[in-house]
Amino acid sequence: MSVHIEGDAGQVIGPVPRRLFGSFVEHMGRSVYTGLYEPGHSTSDERGFRGDVLELVRELGPTVVRYPGGNFVSGYRWEDGVGPDRPRRLDPSWHSVESNRFGLHEFVAWAEAAGIEVMYAVNLGTRGIQEATDVLEYCNHPGGTELSERRRANGADRPFGFKLWCLGNEMDGPWQIGHKTADEYGRLAAETARVMRMIDPGLELVVAGSSHADMPTFGEWERTVLRHTAGLVDHISLHAYYQELHGDTDSYLASGAALDAYIGTVAGIIDELGLDVGISVDEWNVWDLRRWNEVDQARLAEGGWREHPRIIEDDYTVTDAVVVGSLLSSLLRNVDRVTMANQAQLVNVIAPIRTEPGGPAWRQSTFHPFQRVAALAGGSSLRLSVEGPRLRTAQHGEVDLVDVAATVEDSGRGAVFLTNRATAAPTEVRLRLRGARFGVYAAETLTAPDGESRHAVNTAVSQPVRPVPLPGTAVTSDPGGTTITVTLPPLSW
Ligand code: AHR
Repeated sequence: MSVHIEGDAGQVIGPVPRRLFGSFVEHMGRSVYTGLYEPGHSTSDERGFRGDVLELVRELGPTVVRYPGGNFVSGYRWEDGVGPDRPRRLDPSWHSVESNRFGLHEFVAWAEAAGIEVMYAVNLGTRGIQEATDVLEYCNHPGGTELSERRRANGADRPFGFKLWCLGNEMDGPWQIGHKTADEYGRLAAETARVMRMIDPGLELVVAGSSHADMPTFGEWERTVLRHTAGLVDHISLHAYYQELHGDTDSYLASGAALDAYIGTVAGIIDELGLDVGISVDEWNVWDLRRWNEVDQARLAEGGWREHPRIIEDDYTVTDAVVVGSLLSSLLRNVDRVTMANQAQLVNVIAPIRTEPGGPAWRQSTFHPFQRVAALAGGSSLRLSVEGPRLRTAQHGEVDLVDVAATVEDSGRGAVFLTNRATAAPTEVRLRLRGARFGVYAAETLTAPDGESRHAVNTAVSQPVRPVPLPGTAVTSDPGGTTITVTLPPLSW
C-alpha cells in the first residue's frame, strides 16, 4: 500500500508553541511521593528530589508542568503545603492520606531544578475567590502584605511569578469535588478571574472546558462557560484520554483523528462566540480506564486510607506509544488553535517515567514519542495533504491510514512525524515538499521490536521498546522541491 503526502515549505499552519510540550504533576498515587520526591533514595539530594527522575525529566523535555491537580486540587488547601506545620489530611478524590510533606515551595524548587514553567491550578471545588486570590498574592506579590511576607518567611524572598493559572479542574464532571453546573462554574470562574486580574493583570488564565468529548454537557458547557468569562480568560481547557476498547485496535489507532475533531468542535464554539481564546489541552494521554474502574478502585477501598497508594500505574505498550505519537501529531496539526498541552501525567501515574520506591527509574514506551517530538518539532507546523488508503473505524469513522505532522524551522531543520495505522502490512509513503531542498539526517521508528508483540512493554529490569533506525529512506531533490520515500513498518510511529 502506498500513501502520497504533499505540502509546500511556505504553507504553514502556525508557529509551534513551546508550551505544547507540557506535562502534569498531581498529588495522586505515587506521582509526587516515591515518584519525583523520595527522601533517602540513593539518588536523592538533600531536598529529597530523586536525581534519577530529574535526569529523565530533563531528557524528556517538558516545558511547563501543571500542578497540584487534577481532581486532587478540588479539595486541596494550599496552605497545608507551606510553612513548618504540615497537617495530614484525607484526600477524598483519590481515597488517600495526604501528608503534605511536599507542597508549593518544594514544587517550585523542583520545577526550577528541572527547568520547567509552573502552571498552577486553584481550587474552585470546595473553595473560591478568596482562596484563589490568597494563593496568587502568596505566590506573586513581592512583599509587604501578610501573605507575601509569609512566603518570604518560608524561604522565598522573591515572588514565584507564576503566569499561568487554571481556574479549577474538570468542574463538569460529577466525580469532581464541588462539581457544578456550567452556569454555576462560569459565574465563579468569571468572578475569580476578575479579582485575580486586579491583583496581577499579566496573568494568563485557563477556564475549565469539558472533561472529555463524550460528556453529555460537551458543547453547551463550553458555550455557557465562555459567555460568562468572555474577556476575562485567555484559554479554555480540553481534556482527552484514549484507550483500546474491546480489542478494537483500529479505533484506538485513530485517536489522533478523534482529537483533531474534538479540538475542531471547541474551536468552532470559540469562533461562534467571536472570542480570542486559545485551547489548552491540559490533560491528554492514553489511559486504560478499565484498570482504574475494575482494579485500582477496589484495591483502594480494600486497602483503607493510605499514603501514596499505587494507582493507575499503566504499563504502556508499543501500541500505546504509537497512539501517543499520533496524538502529538494532532497537537502539531492544530497549533493555530492549541496554545498549550500537558501530557497527563509525568511520573508513575499514567506516565512516561516510572519508578520503584528505593529502586530504579525507567522510560516507558510512551516516553520516546514525547521526547522526540519535544526535541525535534520547532519553528512552524506545515499544512500537508494526504492521499491514499483510508482506515474504516467503528468509533471514529474513516481516517487516513497514515497520520502525519511536520515542522520546519528558519534554520532549515525540519522533522516529519508519521504514524502507520496499518496493523498487518508495511505502508510506503511518498512525501513531496515543494519549495525546499533538503536531505535526511536521521530516520527512526518505534514499532514492535523484532516482530515481538505489539503488547511489549518496558519494565524496571528491561526496556526493549524504544525507537530504532529506519533503513531505506530515499531522498531526491529537484529545483521544485524534495521527495522522500520511506516504508513504514506495520503499526509504527
Ligand atoms: O490525570 C488523572 C485524572 O484525570 C485527573 O486528576 C483528572 O483531572 C482527570 O479526570
